[in-house]
Amino acid sequence: MISLRAVSKTYNGEIKAIDSISMEIKDGEIFGFLGPNGAGKTTTIKIMTGILNADEGDISINAIDIIKAPLEAKKQIGFVPDSPDMFLRLKGIEYLNFIGDMYEVPSELRKERIITLAKRFGMETAIGDKIQSYSHGMRQKIMIMGVGLHQPPVWILDEPMTGLDPKSSYLLKEMMREHADKGNSVFFSTHVLEVAEKICDRIAIINNGKILISGTLEELRKHVKENESLEKMFLEMTEYA
Ligand SMILES: Nc1ncnc2c1ncn2[C@@H]1O[C@H](COP(=O)(O)OP(=O)(O)OP(=O)(O)O)[C@@H](O)[C@H]1O
Ligand SMILES: [Mg+2]
Repeated sequence: MISLRAVSKTYNGEIKAIDSISMEIKDGEIFGFLGPNGAGKTTTIKIMTGILNADEGDISINAIDIIKAPLEAKKQIGFVPDSPDMFLRLKGIEYLNFIGDMYEVPSELRKERIITLAKRFGMETAIGDKIQSYSHGMRQKIMIMGVGLHQPPVWILDEPMTGLDPKSSYLLKEMMREHADKGNSVFFSTHVLEVAEKICDRIAIINNGKILISGTLEELRKHVKENESLEKMFLEMTEYA
């Protein structure tokens, strides 16, 4: 479970990137965080994962406060950042082993999961190469394999489908559903309403640092005018808010 209460963040004392955001992502659910460029999605995610400190508000991961007990809270989290251009000098397999060490995945289980994940994402040969040599999609996949390796109770993914080919994107969505169905929480950001509509149990729409609306698709649809699509509503809300 992820809980945010009245969280705000201002950059350089002037740009209010997020403004009193409150959300609760429950166990067993996929939660989609939707909004246009610059809405405040990545800032929220950085605060949730303890990369940035909020100016105000409380954030807890499975009831552990991210500020008071950062290491313990972070152990609950598997994170895929918006840019996968990291750990470039490591080979794929070295990155996975590093993650395995950090999250204390026992060696037998680690081997088993690495083999399965590499096969699933067609990365069997590539994991022997340096991440530097990978395409954008392959870098994205190795990060995703990292969270699949340690399977923590909370996944936080910043635009995880960007740059993935249709098959990998499908595999990721399948992994997200499997993970949530085991009673874990999956939170991800996206610009793409279609993706959110397909896989999310609940959605929040953010614009200019504020949550405009949140709920299940059913609940959101109640706000849609007759003869209008959810997409049109989303565009209208984020354009004129
Ligand atoms: N390091 C920073 N310094 C100053 N302003 C920043 C910084 N990072 C983000 N911002 C500003 O905060 C606001 C929210 O940015 P954020 O990256 O959270 O948006 P986003 O919803 O993730 O956008 P995108 O869809 O483009 O990834 C924007 O106005 C952005 O310009
Ligand atoms: Mg972003």
